[in-house]
Amino acid sequence: MKPEELKKLIGYKAVDDLVVSGMKIGLGTGSTAIESVRRVGEKSQRGELKNLAIVATSFETKQECQNYGLNVYTLGDPVINGNLDLTIDGADEVDPEWNLIKGGGGALLIEKIVSYASKRFCIIVDESKIVAELGEKRPVPIEVIPEAFVTVKGTLHALGGRAEIRMAKMKAGPVNTERGNIIVDLYIRGFRPEELEKTLNQIPGVVENGIFAGRTTDLYVAYGNGRIESKSR
Ligand code: A5P
Repeated sequence: MKPEELKKLIGYKAVDDLVVSGMKIGLGTGSTAIESVRRVGEKSQRGELKNLAIVATSFETKQECQNYGLNVYTLGDPVINGNLDLTIDGADEVDPEWNLIKGGGGALLIEKIVSYASKRFCIIVDESKIVAELGEKRPVPIEVIPEAFVTVKGTLHALGGRAEIRMAKMKAGPVNTERGNIIVDLYIRGFRPEELEKTLNQIPGVVENGIFAGRTTDLYVAYGNGRIESKSR
């Protein structure tokens, strides 16, 4: 199957398996998670899902929700009250313990906050995202206050990694996050996800990083032949 067909298959499957009427749900960002947004939208339009309260993790996801007429709330809205039943999101890498690298699309800050607010955190990926250890194929994205870039970069090099500011493709200068910060991609191997996640967040000027250690409760993996493997814990 083509990658876009796999994304649709798995995005739909997670919604069909896990989302029921009345839930408070978080919807993630990226080309896989957007398929779950569409499935929630379609089912809501057909009346198969009712009274959902949705938190979107990015501008793009919010727009797609609104295209389907779905109401979107912030985490702090009294309807949500800081707690979600379930979030469905994609990832850039998944290790054997289900630790993640996220933030390939730059939306890691709200994604992280939403994941911590969710009772269940379901990750949907195709098999290309499965790795033996994090950092194998992708850098760790870090959201950094622009003024802190040079000092943060120095600290990251001292940790044994190579840090690169993520540059925009269709504009001059760096990628800016929805909060006006920059993304620094840290190329590093051989780390313990839980430790590095904490260490990075202790560097002044770091807002959040894309390691999600110990958050995943449900993992859906789509294989090239269309088979889907789902596991929960
Ligand atoms: C967004 O910033 C990311 O965390 C995405 O969840 C991640 O990059 C996966 O995106 P794709 O499903 O498009 O690969």
